Amino acid sequence: MKMPAFPESFLWGASTSSYQIEGAAAEDGRAPSIWDTFCRLKGRVNNGDSGDVACDHYHRMPEDVRLMKDLGLAAYRFSIAWPRLLPRGRGAVNQPGLDFYDRLIDALLENGIEPWPCLFHWDLPQALDDLGGWSNRDMAGWFADYALLCARRYGDRVKHWATVNEFSVFTLFGYAWGWGAPSISDKAFHLKTIHHVNLAHGAAVDVLADQIKGAEIGAIHSWQPLRPQKQTPEDIAAAALFNEHWNLAFPDAQILGHYPPLIARDIEPYVQAGDMARICRPLQWFGVNHYAPMYGGADANMLWGFGWGEVPAELPRSGVGWPMQPEAFKDTLLELTRRYRLPVYVTENGYGSEDKGGRAAEIDDQERLAYLQSYIAAMAEALKAGADVRGYFAWSLLDNFEWGAGYGTRFGIVHVDYPTQERTVKASGKWYSQLIKNKKRGLTRTSTSGPETGA
Ligand code: FCB
Repeated sequence: MKMPAFPESFLWGASTSSYQIEGAAAEDGRAPSIWDTFCRLKGRVNNGDSGDVACDHYHRMPEDVRLMKDLGLAAYRFSIAWPRLLPRGRGAVNQPGLDFYDRLIDALLENGIEPWPCLFHWDLPQALDDLGGWSNRDMAGWFADYALLCARRYGDRVKHWATVNEFSVFTLFGYAWGWGAPSISDKAFHLKTIHHVNLAHGAAVDVLADQIKGAEIGAIHSWQPLRPQKQTPEDIAAAALFNEHWNLAFPDAQILGHYPPLIARDIEPYVQAGDMARICRPLQWFGVNHYAPMYGGADANMLWGFGWGEVPAELPRSGVGWPMQPEAFKDTLLELTRRYRLPVYVTENGYGSEDKGGRAAEIDDQERLAYLQSYIAAMAEALKAGADVRGYFAWSLLDNFEWGAGYGTRFGIVHVDYPTQERTVKASGKWYSQLIKNKKRGLTRTSTSGPETGA
């Protein structure tokens, strides 16, 4: 398979997030986040896993940056742990926490890798949750203060900023269905959370733009085409509401300045005069995390009456059962370009596998390699068809703590042997690295048949 050219300026990177890789959960002044609390609840995370140690990245950061350099990454997307910088979520600053990201940013720049931090990838300081968390409207101001701290400290070196990762996923899982931290399932709480997270995003955008000359600010959204599982009126209606919640609630508010119609009706009691203008602030890019199309249907047992339906049997599935359909990725990129008219960066895309205990098999990850090949090829087709895609970050640089699935699910292009913390580049990582290096050397057409070809 030959792959069409990507523009020379196309940015190739990889992504991680703080709670999923850092570990050092109780070190150097970091205070608990809601995920530390959640992991301690019995039976909520597979195998009782937690992010206490994770990939020990907090201590192994220099080695991990060398690894990124060896892979040839041009950019690295990570998140800043709010409870490491502000253990109470606001007020007193924790110097060692600030210093850690200074060291990380400097190491990246020394190695020619662009830092792409995200301010919030779900590890909310527990102290703020104790004050009502996202149901408290004051969260917008607290988030803006945290953004100000980051902007002042890192803004001299960091130009690309994301406010929040996957607004819809953490709010639905954490506040509607109770499957993730902080394990709440309540309609009013969920609606307030949607609105307050949007307000926090808008406030942070203003702070970053005001503080950092030439800042390139974006937000990161999970976007998976949502199809009704059956063509019945019930499933069609359920899938439409699911689509508003999953795909539209946040980017429509932030970029188009209004909520989608069904949510607009429900959320009205929480919207104050001037709020939509506070939320809809100028952005320079759109971050999309895409994995798989979703099939929605009516489900009376779920809080909002929608849930996951059956996936058509003919669709192949990833190692964690997610349907694989590269054309859905192509469609997504085209649709985002049409709908929001911003340059798009793919901030996550990748393949999950259940660890069956075979290290050798995990490292020779031909399925992940094939997934990346076909999805990157679909991205090239989207580009050709007019999608304004500027970069791609593989999820994930490292195998890591996969939330409720713990360490049993792996997404890395680099294998992590947790007992020894040894890192081994997988077949998929070697292929991806070769792709990037060929592009950098100006080889516009790259064979996708294996890591050693096409050089
Ligand atoms: C996304 C999350 C990321 C990771 C991947 C597999 O929803 O942003 O942290 O868990 O899924």
